[in-house]
Amino acid sequence: CGIVGYVGHRPALDVVLDGLRRLEYRGYDSAGVAVTTGDGLAVERKAGRLANLEARLDEVGRDGFAGTAGMGHTRWATHGAPVDRNSHPHRDVTDRVAVVHNGIIENFAALRAELEAAGVEFASDTDTETAAHLVARAYDGLDGGSTAGDLPASVRAVCRRLDGAFTLVFTHVEQPDMVVAARRSSPLVVGLGEGETFLASDVAAFIEHTRDAVELGQDQVVTITRDGYHVTDFHGEDVSTRPFHVDWDLSAAEKGGHEYFMLKEIEEQPTALADTLRGHFVDGRIILDEQRLSDQDLRDVDKVFVVACGTAYHSGLVAKYAIEHWTRLPVEVELASEFRYRDPVLDRDTLVVAVSQSGETADTLEAVRHAREQKARVLAVCNTNGAQIPRESDAVLYTHAGPEVGVASTKTFLAQIAAIYLVGLALAQARGTKYPDEVGREFEELCAMPDAVARVLSTVDRVRELGRSLADAKAVLFLGRHVGYPVALEGALKLKELAYMHAEGFAAGELKHGPIALIEESLPVVVVMPSPKGRAVLHAKLLSNISEIQARGARTIVIAEEGDETVRPFADELVEVPAVPTLLQPLVSTVPLQVLAAEIARARGYDVDKPRNLAKSVTVE
Ligand code: G6P
Repeated sequence: CGIVGYVGHRPALDVVLDGLRRLEYRGYDSAGVAVTTGDGLAVERKAGRLANLEARLDEVGRDGFAGTAGMGHTRWATHGAPVDRNSHPHRDVTDRVAVVHNGIIENFAALRAELEAAGVEFASDTDTETAAHLVARAYDGLDGGSTAGDLPASVRAVCRRLDGAFTLVFTHVEQPDMVVAARRSSPLVVGLGEGETFLASDVAAFIEHTRDAVELGQDQVVTITRDGYHVTDFHGEDVSTRPFHVDWDLSAAEKGGHEYFMLKEIEEQPTALADTLRGHFVDGRIILDEQRLSDQDLRDVDKVFVVACGTAYHSGLVAKYAIEHWTRLPVEVELASEFRYRDPVLDRDTLVVAVSQSGETADTLEAVRHAREQKARVLAVCNTNGAQIPRESDAVLYTHAGPEVGVASTKTFLAQIAAIYLVGLALAQARGTKYPDEVGREFEELCAMPDAVARVLSTVDRVRELGRSLADAKAVLFLGRHVGYPVALEGALKLKELAYMHAEGFAAGELKHGPIALIEESLPVVVVMPSPKGRAVLHAKLLSNISEIQARGARTIVIAEEGDETVRPFADELVEVPAVPTLLQPLVSTVPLQVLAAEIARARGYDVDKPRNLAKSVTVE
């Protein structure tokens, strides 16, 4: 979910709606706003996209929302169906407290029972509503505590009773000049303006007003007013905070003439790669996060785990080939949601690489915590400055892909591969499994990739056309071998996410052991070919695999290296990509698959940026 809070000199409704527009990638099951006005709380909520809420506000008129303090929410449903009554903000029974929430209150059933026993009637099925009632009662002194009349103290008292992960934002009509928020394991940043202060899940929400921000730590409560902010822990002790300056601006958070963010983000991949590599090769050496991970630490590593979810998991699958090849260390790649619960074998010589664009995915965060409990060293690969996963890791390597708004990841996938490759090279360098000049050469080859990706992008019109021709297909299969296998998985995932089409990725060699039964007349099958020179044996085997499916009537769409003439007879459709070293091939061959999925989705009339049922950062397990 996405949350926004504001206290300042502008109409709060406008600021909050603008902020929500930039946070809609975090969930779009419903949206809502609350503004503190002279007459009390003005609240409106609506199921569906933000546009529905705005239409509703036009209908009821915005005059009732005059006020300069408020909050808003865009929801990815967890407790309770995405209908109006479950939309945030929620209120207490006296209509004086409003709350928005991101995360889950795990002990809400017990709290709800307690409140109902005290005569409180609930208006929704959500866990969030309990927080509104609890804070209202604490503020009124009905909870037997000593926080009456003190909103920050009431919020702290309530937070001490909550289990789970949450960012909560509260207002109280009797405190019209302040907004109070609490953070545990879910993201929250404060934006510092002139005579105005912001709260949001992500700096994108207020980037048009200020680039000066403060990140909140675990179990902290912040009170914002027009003049600034004040942070304490859940017990009221003051804590010091870390201000930072955001290094990108509004234009990075806008579509810049593109129909969808995702299309812009696909175009930005060369820059994302170049920016991620920059500064990591100095005086002939790969540099990671030196302060926190020394050469000795890297030398001690005897096993690597990559843990991640979704697209980030696929970047780990790609990197396994490179890291094992360069370092001779065993690498296991595991879905974060599985890793945590199966007692993996870890010790202080295990390096766990946690890959997450957002840095806040709950499954990955829990995997990090588990790894650290087992004394493993954790390196985060993350695209979001100061997010929870890097905060809880021993070291961090940032991908510099800039803000990614399209829910389906594109540019961060390529940047993640580049970043984990840097980890692989740093390990090889520290362990001496590669000579310094070899490490330098590998880095140079990586640095040539932004240009190679730019060349792919200049030729994708053909792929778009192809996408339109596939709009009515019932299913699409993807095949690959070696590093082409995770590329096939990512191609299939993109198609599922964006076009809601049945899509599966398989290791091409595994085809004959089952999936070949799926092949029928004119079923589109995308095949990711290895280089005929770099991987001649695999290339030949893959040609045999294509023959097997062609013989059964499949329509073959082949992604192959430029100049690979041997593949032509096997390809009903041929998509050529530049010749690059085998381990780097995923960086070029993924791009046409992203374009293909986006184009099929557009041809089917879907919103490419906001696929149904998904959210960009999933902060629940
Ligand atoms: C969500 C998104 C996926 C993303 C995954 C991991 O499920 O819909 O696109 O790959 O989370 O996100 P992360 O922020 O951890 O990379």
